[in-house]
Amino acid sequence: MDETTRDPIEELLLEHGLHRRTLVVLERIAQAVERGGTFPRGDIAKVLGYLREFIEEVHHGKEDTVVYPLVLELADDDVAEEVGRLLWDHVATRDLLASLTMFAESSDPQEQERDGFCQMVRAYVQRMNRHMNLEERLLFPAVRTLDPEQIAEIARGCADATRGQRGASEWAGDIAELEEHWIA
Ligand SMILES: [Fe+2]
Ligand SMILES: [Fe+2]
Repeated sequence: MDETTRDPIEELLLEHGLHRRTLVVLERIAQAVERGGTFPRGDIAKVLGYLREFIEEVHHGKEDTVVYPLVLELADDDVAEEVGRLLWDHVATRDLLASLTMFAESSDPQEQERDGFCQMVRAYVQRMNRHMNLEERLLFPAVRTLDPEQIAEIARGCADATRGQRGASEWAGDIAELEEHWIA
């Protein structure tokens, strides 16, 4: 299947599945930190790398530049209003991720940094899950009502926006390794 026939919504849904698995790993890490375990810098860096490079840059990148603008142009007012909320979620999760990274990169995390890290994990996971649920309930069904040529335009735009970047299949192995360690 080439990039113009690939279903862009199926692809976004598949990516949400991988995001949710990664967020479960992140929650498990925070729970271990809360119980007083050592601060697992290496695995935290891997998860934050996924959040930054795949969720923020690739997934949100194509939603921001391709999917949302076309839906704003074509959808009814109710859906357009929700797109405004979704755009704001992207800004909010990027800010939360910056705070999370700051706590995670503390050179010698003491109780305050560890607590801050766990609080930021909870806030990030909650916001991201709510965001993905809203996209799946409202945005993606609206895209499915567009005509095939408009959907093909989204597919082409998504392919162009992410060319050369690591996709879900390339990240999946890293996430499976983290799950093996954190979700027994
Ligand atoms: Fe999104
Ligand atoms: Fe999404």
